[in-house]
Amino acid sequence: MKKSQNSYLAGTIFKQLLLKKNINAYRLGQQTGIDKTYLSKLTSGIIKKPGHDKLAKIAQVLELKPSQLHAIFTKPEIAAAELNIGEIKLTQQQLIQSSRQDWGEAPDGIVCYGRVAEMAILQQWLIQERSRVIILYGLNGIGKTTLAVHLAKQFQHEFDYIFWRSLWYAPSLEIILTEALGLTTRKQTSEAGVAQKISQLLFQLRQNRCLLIFDQIESILATGNTTQQYQTGYQVYGELFRQIAQLEHQSCLLIISNEKPQDLAILESASASIRSLQLQGLTTAADRLLEDKQLSEKELWHELITIYRGHPLALKIVATTIKELFNSSISEFLRQNTFFLGDLKFLIERQYRRLSDAERTLVCTLAKENQLVSISQLQAEPNLLMNCSEIIWLLDCLKRRSLLETIQENNQTWYTLQPIVKKYLNFYG
Ligand SMILES: Nc1ncnc2c1ncn2[C@@H]1O[C@H](COP(=O)(O)OP(=O)(O)OP(=O)(O)O)[C@@H](O)[C@H]1O
Ligand SMILES: [Mg+2]
Repeated sequence: MKKSQNSYLAGTIFKQLLLKKNINAYRLGQQTGIDKTYLSKLTSGIIKKPGHDKLAKIAQVLELKPSQLHAIFTKPEIAAAELNIGEIKLTQQQLIQSSRQDWGEAPDGIVCYGRVAEMAILQQWLIQERSRVIILYGLNGIGKTTLAVHLAKQFQHEFDYIFWRSLWYAPSLEIILTEALGLTTRKQTSEAGVAQKISQLLFQLRQNRCLLIFDQIESILATGNTTQQYQTGYQVYGELFRQIAQLEHQSCLLIISNEKPQDLAILESASASIRSLQLQGLTTAADRLLEDKQLSEKELWHELITIYRGHPLALKIVATTIKELFNSSISEFLRQNTFFLGDLKFLIERQYRRLSDAERTLVCTLAKENQLVSISQLQAEPNLLMNCSEIIWLLDCLKRRSLLETIQENNQTWYTLQPIVKKYLNFYG
């Protein structure tokens, strides 16, 4: 076996060891204080073996002797047999695949109910049309990450490389580029500058069919009234997105966010190679979430799902509360006549805090409306004092931030807030 294959094998066996010990790279990072990027390089075989200190820390958390862990990286097959680590006779195909995918912080073992229509749309863009950039956006907890994992797993065989990163901690683009290039070129490229690394990545995207997935990109987007679109120091991400969208290659960048970045929205209207999908709640598949929680009173499920508009996280939270506090009785919960959000409240609050003052004023006005409203009705609203173009601009911003619903009725467009957001504002605002 070649030396490089040996390190892929060691990485794969290390990954299996983590599975056996029921710990993922993220938690291992938290418990050892070791950077998760370092750990994911170990699992993908880019780093051949950990240094002495790190090895000792990892061995301690995994309850192994340092020598046992060391053996995994030096004599992987023998060590795997000694530690009784699952299936290690990997086929050449599996060996190559595990060395070409880096799932980063993507959740493992997810369940994705429903989403048939959304999967069909995304498949069309990803596989048939070969879109260069796909933006999947929607409210916090609506199921973006779940759907994206499901999509990427389903079509992983269509790609030479898969690279998933969450931008939740706002990593610098340089780190992300180094890691992506580490996966596709198997070389450390730390000496090159960001611009050079962007062109190296684009070269890789031309040479190979890669699926890059950047989750939670709202962390690098600017908040509030600012005219800049990215947080200070992160504008260079915008440059990368623009180049991936506009230059010719055979790969795809899937962007997941609760906001659609405005610069990409502008490019989208001019190019068929950028697509975006705003994710809404679950429809009939929402039943399965309530079934999982073994709620009774099936005749009331529809009512509960309608109140929360099929928002999967809200339904999971509410169903747990109904089970634990109301002895699984939906009717007793509904009798409280309250709108309960549990921890989802904090997620919506986070999204609300990103708004500019003008957006907040409009959002609060919309929250008080009992009916759908038109632009002319908003213009006549005494609390707003905004002209038509200002209102249109703000509605556009709220739509991109996944807070607004638009409805076509009687040849006219009507506006309202996403029901969960509306209820949040009326209860807690
Ligand atoms: N289709 C689905 N089937 C089953 N469970 C789902 C589905 N979609 C979402 N969920 C569940 O709802 C919760 C929220 O989903 P997810 O994390 O994918 O949302 P998100 O939109 O990525 O949220 P955030 O904006 O906070 O990143 C998770 O617990 C997930 O398991
Ligand atoms: Mg998510």
